Amino acid sequence: MTSFNTDLVHGSSKQIKDANGAINPPIYTATTYAYPDAESNVQYDYSRSGNPTRDNLQSLIAQLEHGEAGFAFASGMAAIHAVLSQFKPGDEIILGDKIYGGTYRLINEYFKRWQLKFKEVDTQDPAAVEAAITPDTKAIYFETFTNPRLQVTSVKEISAVAKKHGLLTIVDNTFLTPYLQQPLDLGADIVLHSATKYLGGHSDLIAGLVVTKAKDLAEKIYFAQNAIGGILSPQDITLLRRGIQTLAVRMDRHQENALKLAKFLQDRDEVAKVYFPGIPGTRDYEIATAEVRGYGAMISFELRDDLDAIQFVNHLQLIHIAVSLGAVESLIELPATMTHAELSPEDQLKAGITPQLLRFSVGIEDANDLIEDLAQSLDQLSK
Ligand SMILES: Cc1ncc(COP(=O)(O)O)c(C=O)c1O
Repeated sequence: MTSFNTDLVHGSSKQIKDANGAINPPIYTATTYAYPDAESNVQYDYSRSGNPTRDNLQSLIAQLEHGEAGFAFASGMAAIHAVLSQFKPGDEIILGDKIYGGTYRLINEYFKRWQLKFKEVDTQDPAAVEAAITPDTKAIYFETFTNPRLQVTSVKEISAVAKKHGLLTIVDNTFLTPYLQQPLDLGADIVLHSATKYLGGHSDLIAGLVVTKAKDLAEKIYFAQNAIGGILSPQDITLLRRGIQTLAVRMDRHQENALKLAKFLQDRDEVAKVYFPGIPGTRDYEIATAEVRGYGAMISFELRDDLDAIQFVNHLQLIHIAVSLGAVESLIELPATMTHAELSPEDQLKAGITPQLLRFSVGIEDANDLIEDLAQSLDQLSK
């Protein structure tokens, strides 16, 4: 058995049987595959139903997440849609109360129309989750590190509650990746990703991945993938596979930089509060220390009330103002007016999103250059 970091590099090539000895899986663009004769039992007939390039990536992510089967989708949202589409009218899902805005929209403006019921609960509090369970509850869905305030949920504790009541645990592992946490090992049944973020890693593709722990769930996700059809293209699969090969080295640098930048921000007078699970003394730190192999590389922070957060981001020279995350380049955004703008002011407040809050996706540049950029912009504010 090889180790995780070796599997990142070699995992996908181990499965290819290319006649020319190609060390990377070929990109199969064919939409359809010829039958040797009309009665042959072929593995591939149509690329929405199955494609060798996609199978290769799907086996890789299943291997990395320690699951039964993996599935690749055209976006993180398509992946979430496929997962939630297995439920039926009347089923209830307990939701972490701080989830990605796009997931919130899919649930409220789409799945509720199909009579799925959702109940938002603080998943940091397993007792509250247990108290919310009703006879209709079928699953608990949450993000391990929440967006944008980086509150940490214990996969172990929540999946123990779920198991006790015969429910599924579904974890969005986008912020951590299997390099930092493998939720299926901690008790989850389904793990999913916006692979657009750290797994892809280069701001150049949109993708989603799902991995199931058990075969019956895999069959349901396969049905949704084939029937609804939100598959990832072979070209994007190749980009994603290449991104995954460098995941470990990128995450190491991302995290090393994030620790330095969190420290820098904590030391600055202009910064009122820093939210980062790597700062000791919080419940987030405790859970992350127990269950995660690191603290990730997302930092949120609030500027002092008398300082202008818009001016602050506008003055940055190196760090891009952009809404995505998990890329090699550092990205910063204002959740109140950008990623979480669709939340009402009350919901924003409930989620801890103030106009002074900034969400910072720390890249893999030289940390000193990032510090210098933040410092010059903060210096201009306090003049
Ligand atoms: C935690 C999380 N889950 C899911 C998604 C949706 O993924 P995508 O944008 O790839 O559709 C995002 C996007 O930002 C996200 O941050």
